[in-house]
Amino acid sequence: MKRSRYDHFASTVLFAKRNGRIKVLRHHDDLKLYGTGRSAAVFKIKNEHRVIKIFYPAFEKTAIEEKQNYEKLNGSHYYPNVYEAGTNYLVMDFIEGKTFFECLAEGIPLKPHYIEHVDNGLQFAKAAGLNPSDIHLHNLILTKNEEVRIIDVARFSQEKMCTQWEDLKDGYTRYYQHTYFPKKIPRRVMYSVSKLYRLYKYISIKKRKRVR
Ligand SMILES: Nc1ncnc2c1ncn2[C@@H]1O[C@H](COP(=O)(O)OP(=O)(O)O)[C@@H](O)[C@H]1O
Ligand SMILES: [Mg+2]
Repeated sequence: MKRSRYDHFASTVLFAKRNGRIKVLRHHDDLKLYGTGRSAAVFKIKNEHRVIKIFYPAFEKTAIEEKQNYEKLNGSHYYPNVYEAGTNYLVMDFIEGKTFFECLAEGIPLKPHYIEHVDNGLQFAKAAGLNPSDIHLHNLILTKNEEVRIIDVARFSQEKMCTQWEDLKDGYTRYYQHTYFPKKIPRRVMYSVSKLYRLYKYISIKKRKRVR
């Protein structure tokens, strides 16, 4: 069977683990590394308005889950369209913009209606039978036209309750909207807050299990 172009692109990418972190060692010349996350590296495809998300080895199950979840979200403009999927990759719309994390780091104001857009997008996912999870600042993108897009939906099919978005919103109304709260936040501060949040969540889950 003839291999698709995207399948070929995916086969050219080589990952290596260095000091506990995944590095991209090589990739096709028509790919440009655009972003990385916990499960994959995302490349912009030359001359196309598309990206290819290539999952690290051992994340193939995540690739299947994400593909299935995107199929359920098909038709909503809050999510990118997916054009092709393979065992370790997804090809989808390139969303040109800045993640909410980058907005905060650069001092681009996050307006209240962006938050409403995220809520609408998540509502769509719920109505499609999904359980929106892992909603954090790196997975929300603000486009040039001030539209909001949600990416990275692999964990939308988990059963476990995830309060991350509700907690972020709480922080937004309680602190960010306060007149004197800084609108530009250093990256290292955000990384530290995120680490503390994960630690706090971990300890509260452990405590809850011990009480049972
Ligand atoms: N469709 C897309 N368009 C533009 N940027 C994207 C797209 N998908 C992912 N990215 C960028 O790549 C980063 C990693 O992608 P993500 O899907 O979140 O991977 P992971 O599942 O490993 O967290 C994102 O934070 C974002 O900056
Ligand atoms: Mg992500």
